[in-house]
Amino acid sequence: MTTSVAIHTYLEQQREIVEKALQTVFPTEWTMPGKLLEAMDYSLLAGGKRLRPILVLAAAQAVEGNDDASKRALPFACAVEMIHTYSLIHDDLPAMDNDDYRRGRLTNHKVFGDAMAILAGDGLLTHAFHVVTQAAKLGVPPERVLAVVQELAKYAGLSGMVGGQVDDMLGEQGVTSLQQLENIHLHKTSDLIAFSLRSGGHAGLADEKQLEAYGLFGRNVGLAFQIQDDILDLTGTADKLGKPVKSDERQEKVTYPFLMGLDESRKRVVDLTKEANETLLQAGLAKPDKLIAIADYLLNRDH
Ligand code: IPE
Ligand code: IPE
Ligand code: MG
Ligand code: MG
Ligand code: MG
Repeated sequence: MTTSVAIHTYLEQQREIVEKALQTVFPTEWTMPGKLLEAMDYSLLAGGKRLRPILVLAAAQAVEGNDDASKRALPFACAVEMIHTYSLIHDDLPAMDNDDYRRGRLTNHKVFGDAMAILAGDGLLTHAFHVVTQAAKLGVPPERVLAVVQELAKYAGLSGMVGGQVDDMLGEQGVTSLQQLENIHLHKTSDLIAFSLRSGGHAGLADEKQLEAYGLFGRNVGLAFQIQDDILDLTGTADKLGKPVKSDERQEKVTYPFLMGLDESRKRVVDLTKEANETLLQAGLAKPDKLIAIADYLLNRDH
């Protein structure tokens, strides 16, 4: 079996574990508006690569090479996918990127209306924190769960993803330097990926040095991921991506390809991935191989 076949099989198996867990995140005994549940599930169960939750599970497993650690990490994996999905629902709204397709289907607001799409995002965001706390029942030490709650609020929030989305919005047309653009990408996209790695690390009882390495690996893989997203917006197909192409041009976004050209952007993706993998190899992890294979796999993604 070649490495590329092995990583495909691994990603598919992990994706199935995540899909199954996502189907049971809303407590059936709670009273909730049916329409809200429908709108949240519409986007949450629409597929998607599930990259962030898979990184949570792989990071948990890598610390000591222990599969039980990734079982304990499953609530963190679900939570990050819920936050990610809410960010996509809001990102697609007319007031933001104004896109009509996501994950191969009409965007949430196109089906449920703007108000319900906003509320579905709110519901996913709020409930993600409830889901995080469930890790304590699976044996993650309470102080680690508390650390994950704090980190999720920071990496997904004001100084993280939300902050990055704000800078992305304010920067439309106005971004002129690579440093400004890198800063936007680091917050709107890398921070949630760094959180994915670190929360998996907490479930796997990683030490401070390993958590730091996970943060840095996530930073660089996340930045490479968003540069690739910018490249695919120009060179990809809507069929493969499940979302419209040329959305950045329409919104007059300044992107990596816009500032440095396609070839240089592609080179930056390769360099960042190399740097990420080197960090990981020096972190004293029992089994970093899956994480490295995921980073390498992302280099050639077409969706
Ligand atoms: C899209 O994320 C938004 C970015 C931060 C680039 P993904 O490319 O991971 O989207 P899904 O989850 O597979 O739909
Ligand atoms: C979005 O970046 C990042 C988020 C936090 C949602 P984009 O606006 O480039 O993501 P896509 O291309 O719509 O998926
Ligand atoms: Mg956007
Ligand atoms: Mg967008
Ligand atoms: Mg994009």
